Amino acid sequence: MHETNQQPVGGATAAWWTEAVIYQIYPRSFAESGGDGIGDLPGITARLDHLVELGVDAVWLSPFYPSPQADAGYDVADYRDVDPLFGTLADADRLIAAARERGLRVIVDLVPNHTSSAHRWFTEALAAAPGSPARQRYIFRDGLGPDGAEPPNDWRSVFGGPAWTRVIGPDGRPDQWYLHLFDTAQPDLNWDNPEVRAEFLDTLRFWLDRGVDGFRVDVAHGLIKQSDLANWHEPQEILSGREIDKPRPPMWDQDGVHEIYRDWRRVLDSYPGGRILVAEAWVEPAERLAAYVRPDEMHQAFNFEYLLAAWTAPAQYAVITRSLEATDAVGAPTTWVLSNHDVVRHASRLGLPVGTPRPNGIGIGDPQPDAALGLRRARAATLLMLALPGSAYLYQGEELGLPEHTTLPDEARQDPTWKRSGHTERGRDGCRVPIPWEADAPSYGFGPTDASWLPQPSLWAEYARDRQHGVPGSTYEMYRTALRLRREHGLGRGTLYWLASGDEVLTFRNGEVTVLTNFGAAAVPLPDGAELVHASGPLDGDRLVPTDVTVWYLG
Ligand code: GLC
Repeated sequence: MHETNQQPVGGATAAWWTEAVIYQIYPRSFAESGGDGIGDLPGITARLDHLVELGVDAVWLSPFYPSPQADAGYDVADYRDVDPLFGTLADADRLIAAARERGLRVIVDLVPNHTSSAHRWFTEALAAAPGSPARQRYIFRDGLGPDGAEPPNDWRSVFGGPAWTRVIGPDGRPDQWYLHLFDTAQPDLNWDNPEVRAEFLDTLRFWLDRGVDGFRVDVAHGLIKQSDLANWHEPQEILSGREIDKPRPPMWDQDGVHEIYRDWRRVLDSYPGGRILVAEAWVEPAERLAAYVRPDEMHQAFNFEYLLAAWTAPAQYAVITRSLEATDAVGAPTTWVLSNHDVVRHASRLGLPVGTPRPNGIGIGDPQPDAALGLRRARAATLLMLALPGSAYLYQGEELGLPEHTTLPDEARQDPTWKRSGHTERGRDGCRVPIPWEADAPSYGFGPTDASWLPQPSLWAEYARDRQHGVPGSTYEMYRTALRLRREHGLGRGTLYWLASGDEVLTFRNGEVTVLTNFGAAAVPLPDGAELVHASGPLDGDRLVPTDVTVWYLG
């Protein structure tokens, strides 16, 4: 172990979002009121008090807009309404008002990279001729080869298969191809078209006028494509992990996206009350990501490099330091996250052998995570994360220590990834299973009946909120205490000083709180005089911090 220098990383700023803990609600799977097995907006409203009790500052709602649900609502057919599956616009208004009464802020999802193929614009594009204004809202191109039967380039869909689909023209003959970086039902918009830009500015205003506090911007690094749509012979994952000086894939993280966000920022700034934009941008390295949170652009960008970092002291030290330095350089806070609706839940991810590449889903027949180890490490990781300066996002159910559903029957899978990858990638259903509230109720209290759009495993009972509420040492109470102490000690607006970093232990100070995570095999004693304030698991005796435990202490 070596002493590190005492240079602070992570400066203090004032606005609410710089230190907020924001809870992601995945509406289909949070709580439902109708009995159809799909969560809805009234279900969310009825459960808001629980989130207040947990102690979060805001909620982010994944899409609830009218949609054929080809990608669980990330295929939006109308940006300014609510899908009847989830309720009505009046339900959305009631939810926003109820949240506000409770001091909770509300962030909604905005999906600008693509629409649904059921969007009016796409219907018009199909009915119109090549080169027409209706086609120019999307990315239509002629195919290659003598009869245009080859796709315009070699790009792949993130969900598997080609990123181009050929359409049948109004005359009934095969016609142009359109680009879809995701499902065929998600045609990419053409952001070089001023009409597209104007439309989204209006959509921002529509929701800002209804009182939302901000937008999570889906695929924020994808809107602008390199204009020549050049072939890309290298891997094309959504995370465009590249070194700073290497060429970037032509479909991700093009410099032109920033102008769009500067326009949006001007709209948000014209509203009172600190409205925010948060980028879902799978961009590496940290300096490239930080460009999204320059002072006149977005406010936050999810730190996926952190989410993906291995559970070792050196890896965690490196990613935390790099992230704080990169965002400090542009005067922004860092936005920490460990789980969301697209990745294997961290209680399961961390139960795989250290260094396992991030699996895209886990199913029957796959190597299964060690559930106890995963939960232990997940709790340690969360307590480490919640002590870092900046904002943090939680994904519904993680406060229960909920694991991935790793044995979901393949017939139940709904993520388009499973089919499009030719049944090689299981996809994201395992983190989207409706969450358990009451151990002994139908659908574990998710809704009034047993219905659940994805089957819930029987082990949900032991994770149910009512089994953990008020139970000392439960994951739920660990989160609740952490959020209270984080607030009391101002950790989100604090400054991090590394005290020690080595191969086995990380220690840093943030204000009056010292944080220690033990990654090593041997237990580590608390320093003399240290007053323990929180721990992710029981100590050995009074003073020994065991493997995979994080503690917060004073002194
Ligand atoms: C984002 C969403 C993901 C969705 C994709 C396409 O990555 O988080 O769920 O499938 O965008 O919209």
